[in-house]
Amino acid sequence: MNTTAQNDRDLIGLLGAGKLGTAIGRLAAEASFPLAVSVRPGNPLYDLTLPTLLPTARLVPFEELARTADILILALPQPALASIDLSGVRGIVVDATNAWKATDGASDTSTTPTQNTTAALQARYPELAIIKSLNHAGYTELSAEARPHGAPGRRTVAVAGDDAAARSRVAAFIDAIGFDPVELSSEHAALLEPGGVAFGQRLELADWPANIVATRH
Ligand SMILES: NC(=O)c1ccc[n+]([C@@H]2O[C@H](COP(=O)([O-])OP(=O)(O)OC[C@H]3O[C@@H](n4cnc5c(N)ncnc54)[C@H](OP(=O)(O)O)[C@@H]3O)[C@@H](O)[C@H]2O)c1
Repeated sequence: MNTTAQNDRDLIGLLGAGKLGTAIGRLAAEASFPLAVSVRPGNPLYDLTLPTLLPTARLVPFEELARTADILILALPQPALASIDLSGVRGIVVDATNAWKATDGASDTSTTPTQNTTAALQARYPELAIIKSLNHAGYTELSAEARPHGAPGRRTVAVAGDDAAARSRVAAFIDAIGFDPVELSSEHAALLEPGGVAFGQRLELADWPANIVATRH
């Protein structure tokens, strides 16, 4: 298995290099994570913008991203998930998407009050570890509010999923890029989505009720 990284950091794969993808990519690069990015073919804009926005990132076809990334972050509009084939994914999948009209258009019909999108994806790919994270803060907030581990008043970013090992690995990534991770089981993932109490809120560790936190950091 070709895990990672010249510097022992997980290889971070970004699917989508818009506002959220590049914001996460910049934080990851600052924390010395190697980066690979995949975008839709045929848009020459990325050949111009990516070397400036994410100079350490390698632009690769999706199949290579799926095969090589240790943590693959879905940072594309949610309706596009329906046509993405994750069957070749080797690593952990982080679903950072929302049913958010401004970036995602009208609500995805796969999103119902009883099954959030990550659960729907997990049902499609039961063999994968799929984590909901990085979706509940705006990209400008992620860029502006990253702080070193231990900094007072550090903002939290939640990591929701049922595979404890995958959750813990994503939590380590969240910590490294500047946020206190809060691990939740998948039943609480909807709290992070539009309409959920944590969506768009600036929460610190003490703001999370102890009875919903799966692992304390
Ligand atoms: N913006 C935020 O602050 C923020 C924060 C948290 C979560 N989110 C969520 O993150 C997701 C992305 O938001 P965004 O603001 O980054 O959107 P964005 O700026 O519009 O970027 C979307 C990216 O996804 C790519 N893409 C679109 N359809 C694709 C497909 N079928 N296959 C591969 N790539 C595709 C786009 O490429 P093209 O240029 O080729 O279209 C673009 O690189 C959304 O679900 C949003 O709700 C956003």
